[in-house]
Amino acid sequence: MSKVTVVGAGNVGATCANVLVTTQVADEVVLLDIKEGVSEGKAMDIMQTANILGLETRLYGVTNDYSKTEGSDVVVITSGIPRKPGMTREELIGVNAGIVKSVTENVLKHSPNAVIICVSNPMDTMTYLIHKTSGLPKNKIIGMGGALDSARFKYFLSQAIGCNAKEVEGIVIGGHGDTTMIPLTRFAAYRGLPASEFISEEKLAAVAADTMVGGATLTKLLGTSAWYAPGAAAAQVVGAVLGDQKKLISCSALLEGEYGESDLCIGVPCILGKNGIEKIVEFNLNEEEKALFHKSAEAVHKTNAALASAL
Ligand code: LAC
Repeated sequence: MSKVTVVGAGNVGATCANVLVTTQVADEVVLLDIKEGVSEGKAMDIMQTANILGLETRLYGVTNDYSKTEGSDVVVITSGIPRKPGMTREELIGVNAGIVKSVTENVLKHSPNAVIICVSNPMDTMTYLIHKTSGLPKNKIIGMGGALDSARFKYFLSQAIGCNAKEVEGIVIGGHGDTTMIPLTRFAAYRGLPASEFISEEKLAAVAADTMVGGATLTKLLGTSAWYAPGAAAAQVVGAVLGDQKKLISCSALLEGEYGESDLCIGVPCILGKNGIEKIVEFNLNEEEKALFHKSAEAVHKTNAALASAL
């Protein structure tokens, strides 16, 4: 029996729960929110698709009752406020730090062995906060930003090439911020062949630029932060852990010397399995990528420094 809790029944949390149910990754999913009735309503709405879609996963909503999350294998934390048009993810730290800290404490009271997946923004800093306050081993805390950013990279790449997104490969490392993410264009591929064989270097650079502001573009269009791809990316990470898939996904992980950086969480390629982050894959970046990674790490450290006054 596998059990997943999703904390926060906003757009991202509810979408994550919906994807978990429709892909039948877990046996049981609990959707928890602080707002009376919202998680119950969304869970009921989703479960009313069960007969239409032939679903077996059980989903139910609870209002702030953490005892119902007891024994979860994986907990996804989406709590906090989303950004509005024109805001950076970093500006959310003042409000979200306190929320993420207390949610983590509540969750661990009932599921001390859970793997925690952090979605709340600023995502790298919230992941770091969970490391600092939870006492969990580092492999059990995963920030999902790179999974989302890599999915957006592959979307823009497929649009530029004119093919299905399933046909392309690409990975984004670095921070989950408009100026800190690093789409690794050097490794972008179309069925194993370099993407640069199919589109010009200028187009590939535009794909990378669109990826970096992918979240901001949607926030502007929608009036609030995106949710379909963020929810699905979180569910993808849940699936990799629950299914012990040994999937290579870019995630925000605590670095202790890898890539020349330490004492921060930032996007790097990770092998995910039942123990969470089972391995951080360290590979050779070229000089330009190394410089970008170092700059990205500096920016994430700077946001982390604001945690002290936010808590
Ligand atoms: C985004 C938010 C979820 O990138 O960070 O859409």
